[in-house]
Amino acid sequence: MRRKIIAANWKMNMTLNESESYLECFLLEIADEKAVDIVLVPPFTALARVSELLNDVQNVKLGAQNMHFEKGGAFTGEISAAMIRELFAKYVVLGHSERRTLFGETDEIVNKKTKAAIDASLRPIVCIGETLAERDAGRVEEVLETQLKGSLAGVPAKEFSEIVIAYEPVWAIGTGRTASPAQAQDAHAFIRKNLAALSDSATAEKVRIQYGGSVKPGNTVELMKQPDIDGALVGGASLDPRAFAEIVKLAGKS
Ligand code: PGA
Repeated sequence: MRRKIIAANWKMNMTLNESESYLECFLLEIADEKAVDIVLVPPFTALARVSELLNDVQNVKLGAQNMHFEKGGAFTGEISAAMIRELFAKYVVLGHSERRTLFGETDEIVNKKTKAAIDASLRPIVCIGETLAERDAGRVEEVLETQLKGSLAGVPAKEFSEIVIAYEPVWAIGTGRTASPAQAQDAHAFIRKNLAALSDSATAEKVRIQYGGSVKPGNTVELMKQPDIDGALVGGASLDPRAFAEIVKLAGKS
């Protein structure tokens, strides 16, 4: 059985004060939740503060939203894997569709970041997903296969269980339009089949595949009940600590 992993991607939101009030509320709400892995993914500026606030908290882990693949040097505005590790973060989101479409990240870049994250003992959450035009053109499988293979090229199969894949159909992100549970399950099963082709079926069975795209308390249970959906990467609804706590609790029961 794969343990579900529910992550809050705060994107470019939350000042230090807002992060503190969020945690005050959220940690009380989920104090007894042990059934799922919970990950908070604040902006870089709040990572250190949130890390301190999670110091004595066992059931919530920390993640970063991005990183550079180089270890250090003249890369103004960038953050390395070691800098993230130093703040006790365990996860890093890579290749989010906003990074791919707004900041020109290619599969090749995502691949370099994935390898650098693994080298630094960070667990990558590698995001893949098709646009609406690609779905309408019947290209979902082709796009997912290309992004998955490209992002994981050269990653040894023994590292796969450290990686989380996030299936995020671009048309469902921040739009209020969720993939139906059946559409999501189809994509997740296809991703798992491809993971098996890149490694073997026992390895692919261990990889957790999150769904992302307008996840909210009202659609969590149906999505989490699908056999190949192992969690959620939540954007908008994760900005409200009560709504995110509700998603965590519902996922824990699904
Ligand atoms: P959303 O974002 O929940 O606001 O759709 C998900 C994501 O981008 O990770």
